[in-house]
Parts: sequence; C-alpha cells; structure tokens
Amino acid sequence: MKASKIVAVYGSPRRKGNTATLLKKAVEGARDAGAQVEEIVLRDLKMSPCLEIYGCNKAGECRLKDDFQQARDHILAAQGLMLASPVFFYTVSAHTKILMDRFQSLWVKKYWVEQTRKDQPKLHRKGLFIAAGATQGKKLFDGILLSLRYFFDVIDMELWKALLYRGLDFEGDVLKFPQYLDEAYQAGKQFAETIGNESKI
Ligand SMILES: Cc1cc2nc3c(=O)[nH]c(=O)nc-3n(C[C@H](O)[C@H](O)[C@H](O)COP(=O)(O)O)c2cc1C
Repeated sequence: MKASKIVAVYGSPRRKGNTATLLKKAVEGARDAGAQVEEIVLRDLKMSPCLEIYGCNKAGECRLKDDFQQARDHILAAQGLMLASPVFFYTVSAHTKILMDRFQSLWVKKYWVEQTRKDQPKLHRKGLFIAAGATQGKKLFDGILLSLRYFFDVIDMELWKALLYRGLDFEGDVLKFPQYLDEAYQAGKQFAETIGNESKI
C-alpha cells in the first residue's frame, strides 16, 4: 500500500523555537502512523515576496523563479499539510506570509484563468495548523486564523485541526509543557491516520 504524503512546513525563523519543536513532534507522530512526511524549513529557502506584477494572469504561473515552485509542487502533491508559525503582530511570521502570498498565482489560476466558481469548493486536502504566541489575549489567534482560512481555500484545503498555544515566548518555553508536546504528537498521528483512511476509500 502506498503511504499517504504529508508536507510539514516550518514557518518560524527559529530552528529550535516553540512551533518548530511542536511541529517536529507532529511529524514524529505522522511518521509513526506510516505517513511519508516531507519537511520544508522556510528560513532555508530563497523566496521573494510577491511583487504584485501579475505575471501570473495569463496562465496562473508565478513569473518569479526561486524556491517557491518546488515548495508549491510539494504542497499540491500532498494529501495533507502541517503548517507551524509563531504569532508575529497578530498574524503569521513573515516567512509564512511570503509563502502564502506567492500562492496568489494559484488564486489567479483558479479564479481568473480557469474561472472556478467560488461556491464550488473542492476540499480534498487537509491541514493541521500549529501556532504559538507570547501573550494570553483572547483574540491572539483571530488574525492568523483568518489569513489561514483564505490561504487554505486557495489550495483546496480544509482546516482539520488547529493547535494554538498562548504564553510561549522564549526558545524552549514549550519544553516546560510536556502535555503540549504530547498533544502535537497525537495530532500528527491522528492526522496521518485520517488521511490514510480517506485515501483507502
Ligand atoms: C517580530 C515578532 C512579533 C511578535 N508578535 C507577537 C504578537 O503579536 N503577539 C504575541 O503574543 N507574541 C508575539 N511575539 C512572540 C512570539 O509569538 C513568541 O515568542 C513565539 O513563542 C515564537 O514562536 P517560535 O519560537 O516558534 O518562533 C512576537 C515575536 C516577534 C519576534
């Protein structure tokens, strides 16, 4: 049987930060459940922000040639995406936002080039999202979840689960909360199992 494919995207500039540690746990869980997991560390990629030149408006293909194309192809070839980002000014990190913005080329492909109707969503991919922020505010994740919703729409993805952690600031803070690490591991495992079961149907 072919293993289901999941892409794990690390959106923090910190390699060993809170969200990276949590995502590593989710990756471990997904692998233990038999999934094939490709890891992408955004800070290692050379990716320009969207320059809004709309070179994509003929065929939906971004004209800027850099590491975006490879990241996009991996994400679109996978049945699941596990994305982790810290909260930066109430939204995702700049690294994560650059990736999201470059997917505007796919939005153009869907809605301008292929004229896909917005009321006909094809949600065939699933996403697990992990975020951490320093404060305890009630609205801490409101901005990030809104950005995520519209990004997921472009890549035909439904939000399967969001693990959102408040009160984590310094690198290593998350290690004081083994229950968060366990939750991330279990979520990764269940995510892979859910995707695996669906691909058998
Ligand atoms: C540029 C920047 C902006 C931030 N903005 C917020 C914020 O708006 N709200 C918040 O609670 N924490 C904010 N933080 C704190 C981070 O969200 C927090 O340290 C988080 O745990 C970092 O996750 P990481 O270790 O995975 O990078 C900010 C940190 C930085 C560096």
